[in-house]
This record gives sequence, structure tokens and C-alpha cells, in this order.
Amino acid sequence: MKKLIGPFSEILTLSGLALNGAINDDQLEVIPGGGVIVENGKIVATGDFESLRLANPELPLEKIEGEQVLLPGFIDCHTHICFAGSRAKDYSLRIQGKTYLEIAKSGGGIWDSVTQTRAAGLPKLVELLEQRVQRHLADGVTTIEIKSGYGLDVSNELKMLRAIKEIALTTVADLIPTCLAAHLLPKDFEGSQVEYLDHVLADLLPLVKAEDLANRVDIFIEESAFDRKASVPYLLAAKALGFEITVHADQFTTSGLEVAIEVGAVSADHLEASTEREAALLKGTETVAVVLPGASLGLGMQYAPARKLLDAGACLAIASDWNPGSAPMGDLLMQAAVMSAAEKLCTAEVFAGLTFRAAKALGLKDRGTLTEGMLADMQAYPCSDYREILYHQGKIKPGMVWKNGTIV
Ligand code: NIG
Ligand code: FE
Repeated sequence: MKKLIGPFSEILTLSGLALNGAINDDQLEVIPGGGVIVENGKIVATGDFESLRLANPELPLEKIEGEQVLLPGFIDCHTHICFAGSRAKDYSLRIQGKTYLEIAKSGGGIWDSVTQTRAAGLPKLVELLEQRVQRHLADGVTTIEIKSGYGLDVSNELKMLRAIKEIALTTVADLIPTCLAAHLLPKDFEGSQVEYLDHVLADLLPLVKAEDLANRVDIFIEESAFDRKASVPYLLAAKALGFEITVHADQFTTSGLEVAIEVGAVSADHLEASTEREAALLKGTETVAVVLPGASLGLGMQYAPARKLLDAGACLAIASDWNPGSAPMGDLLMQAAVMSAAEKLCTAEVFAGLTFRAAKALGLKDRGTLTEGMLADMQAYPCSDYREILYHQGKIKPGMVWKNGTIV
């Protein structure tokens, strides 16, 4: 059904902004007193509300009361929200001074979440995942990438991906699954990194394809996980099987970003350890740089050099990394707002990173701006000036969220 929604105090369309590099707030398209026409889940037009109403008197009106600023729904292009259990113990040890790697070596870390997730049945996992998806949706996140990676054997990786598929069929949010069987060399696998990755290639990825559980493959390249030598052939072989590649890169030490570029990954994520040298490598590539301020906040470490990445011309997306270990908060807007103050990202750069630039990281061309033909994934904040949203650093939440033109 075709309808007119409005009036909004302002509509921030995010149309017409560059896909790469630094942008500024003067380039933002802001429509005061705006309205939006929606049909079949897509945007037909945005513009001055009264003009749209006069030109389309026959259209039913979805009336908006009070001050509201409309913007595109957020796209969280990197999460690990399919997990069971908690790692509050790790967090408590970290704030007593232990490092992420020390905690991992002494029985915490990713392996602890693997143990807890393996112990959960599919129904429990589905229930926990659904709660997190609903929370994100209420916060205006209408598209959510979700990784496996806490199963680390064939049956448990499949269990995780099936849980994601099950929720994808019932929630209105769009879920994008990614196979992260290469999160860690499992403690119970007898063999080398190469042998484990060969096993994933031979025994898991064909089943993932056959059941249509994911078309993306991720890997954690780090001294504590997989090295460059084992990673490159694995990623190239996964690519040959038809998977898109994304990489956990440069979180503590560099080399992951170089691998991501070498294999033509759609994104390189984390980048806390990247320097100007790595930033320069991204120029002219199609690889999106995804920064994860929630992991910096959770681990108490430096942010990725978001300003330098933008100034070097990167397409920069911002994601939550919501996971039980390094990023338990899961509040994407709060994380982006807090990082923007430290890294000096302007509003246009932050919202671009949460919308159409994040869409690029997921290979999605149909969302991320309020432009004719795009999905009507939208959110409205109870304020009259778009600048209020980052100013309140995540404490103002959207009062209304639309997925495909329908209020959720
Ligand atoms: O993106 N760095 C590797 N993986 C996750 C953390 C997972 C965990 O600690 O459970 C991340 O930060
Ligand atoms: Fe991650």
C-alpha cells in the first residue's frame, strides 16, 4: 500500500554523500518539515511534507506527532550475537589488570564461550539470539550481520548458523550470516592450523553452502588465532567455493589488513593496531574498513584510527562487534557517538558509517539512504535537530522504527 508518512521536524536522507573518504556536515541533505512516500516497502519520494500532501491528496497518511528526526535504519555489519553464557568473569579480571590474551590462556576467552555455546541446545540458542535481535531492532538497527565462531566443530558451527537462519525467518530485521569457523584453533582439534582450516574447507563449508546457511566466510588473523601463511590459502579456497571474504584484522598486531586486501575481502574489521601505513594500503581497493569501538571500550584499549582511515580515503563503516567477550555492551549508537568525540568524526561520517557504508561491507546496494527506490528502513528520534542524536551519545533512542515501510 502506498502512503505518506510525516510530518518530521527533519529528514536526514544521507543521499548524495561519497562512498569513500572524508565527508563533511555541509554535504548532508536535511529536509525540514519533511515527509516520505512509501510503497511496497520502498521509498518513492522524500520532500517537503506539505508539498507532498498537496500533490498526493489521495494517499493515506501515517501521521507523526511531535518533534521527530527521521534517518535511515542502522546496519550493524559485524556482530557475534549468537552465543550462550556470559564472560563477566573475564571482564572482571580485565579491570583488575589482566590482559585479553592472559585471560584466554587461563581458561577464559573465546574458548570459554565455545564451551558454553556448545552446551546450549538449538532452542536455547535461538531464544537468546532472538532477544538480542529484538533489542537491536528497537535501537533502530534494521540489518544485522551475525557470525558463527563459537561452535568450532562441524555440528556446532551448523547449529549456530541454523539458529541464525531460524530467527531470520521470523524477525522483520534482515540478518546476514557469516561462517567464522576460523575464529580460533579449537583446543580439542588434534592438528595444525592448516589441517584445521583444510577440515573446515572439506567438511563444513560444503554443508554451509548446501543448506544455504551463509555466503560469507570470516577469519581471525592474529598471533593468538590464525597466521597469515595459513589464512591466505584458506581464504582463496573459500572464495573459490563462492564465499565472500571478511577478516578480523589488525586487532592487536598487523598483517590481517594486508591479507584482506590480498584476497579481495569485502571488509577488514577491527584495525585498532593499524597505522598510516596500513591505512594507505586501502586506497583504491573495494575493501571496507570496519571499526569496532565497542571492542575498544570492552577491552579498554585504543580505538582504530578512524580519522586517519577516512583521511587516507577509506570507506569506513562502524559496527558493534557485540559479543560476550570483547564487546558485551551491544549499543551501536552509543559506541559510535563516544568514538566520534575521540576520533573527531563528523556527524556525516558517523551516520555514513552506520548506514550506506556498512551496507557496502555486506554487499547490499538496496539500503542505507532515504533515496527513491531504496528499502524504507527508517528510524525516528524524538528531537528537532539531527545533531541532538550524537550529542546525547546514545541516550536518545528511536521512538519509531520502520522495516520495509512498516512500523515495528
Ligand atoms: O571481534 N577478535 C576476535 N573475536 C571477537 C571477540 C570474541 C570473543 O572474545 O568472544 C572480536 O572481538
Ligand atoms: Fe568480531
